[in-house]
Amino acid sequence: MKLFPLFPVQASTTASHVDLLFAALTAVTILFSLIIFVAIVFFAVRFRRGHKVDRSNAPLEHLPIEIMWTGIPLVIALGLFIWSTALYFIDKRVPDGAMEIYVVGKQWMWKLQHPEGRWEMNELHVPVGRPVKLTMTSEDVIHSFFVPAFRLKQDVIPGKFTTMWFTATKPGHYHLFCAEYCGTNHSGMIGQVVVLSAADYEKWLRSGNTTTSMAAAGEKLFMQHGCNGCHGAGSSVRAPFLEGIYGKPVPIQVPTGKPGETKTQVIIADDRYIHDAIVLPEQEIAAGFKPIMPTFKDRLKEEEIVQIIDYIKSLSTTSGSASSNQGYNSSNMDESAIRARTGFKPQNMGDIASRKSQNVAGTMSSSQ
Ligand code: CUA
Repeated sequence: MKLFPLFPVQASTTASHVDLLFAALTAVTILFSLIIFVAIVFFAVRFRRGHKVDRSNAPLEHLPIEIMWTGIPLVIALGLFIWSTALYFIDKRVPDGAMEIYVVGKQWMWKLQHPEGRWEMNELHVPVGRPVKLTMTSEDVIHSFFVPAFRLKQDVIPGKFTTMWFTATKPGHYHLFCAEYCGTNHSGMIGQVVVLSAADYEKWLRSGNTTTSMAAAGEKLFMQHGCNGCHGAGSSVRAPFLEGIYGKPVPIQVPTGKPGETKTQVIIADDRYIHDAIVLPEQEIAAGFKPIMPTFKDRLKEEEIVQIIDYIKSLSTTSGSASSNQGYNSSNMDESAIRARTGFKPQNMGDIASRKSQNVAGTMSSSQ
């Protein structure tokens, strides 16, 4: 086996399940190929020219045989269908408490960010034995995140988050490939997944020179781009508050198809929703609010958007906030404290307001 390895090593909890299914499919294929091949040879020999055998008309109908050759393949095919579907659902359902890592694919590299703040290029360090959830998007074209040793592959698509999860079972180095043709250097878009013991992973996380967590970096961007001007407590522009919003149902207005008419719909404020609210703000407007949010499509990179999402996520767990500060919570902070905390300065106001009014005008004229 070692001399001529047919399969990569099995290094995730998924790997053995996938291999077993693959072996079963192969076995079924070989079995039927054999049956057909043997029958062809047998009949070719038996009914060859000049061989004296009974060639009188054979019966045209034989119900038991017909039932058999319909029934057996049906059972086999349905069995494989149920088996693979069950595996698919296991594969799609991320276990609770999975560690989250963000992946951004771009021509021609992988950028990975750990919530603690460490960025990696073309390398992914993960601890052994812990479920890891990858939330992935692309800066440009479609890529595909493929780790053969984990038996996992998932397309990485611009303008969309895709997820994948795994639990690594063996410390070691494993190939990481881009498995979707993405341009000239597609074949060079490779890297490795480094599976470490829990202790080594902790050590590795600390060894980096990054000191800001993803959420803290997101908070900085949130301030820099003036998001807090509208979304911060005490702002005079009416925009939804973001604390506690992550993972919760939120009402939004969606067009009904008739001009100027919208209906309310409730969706979950997940990564996808927050991402789209930043780059396509007019698509899903929070119910009860005006469509005045400008798009940040060309002003933020995907990797910055995931940091902002992580910041908003940190606001959900109020006390465990981004930097040393508490998540801003209007109930126990007075307005000046909130302004100090969010870096909100009244003189920014004119700026934001004029930008907003321009945007409103733009929105309205475009919808006419
Ligand atoms: Cu990225 Cu191929």
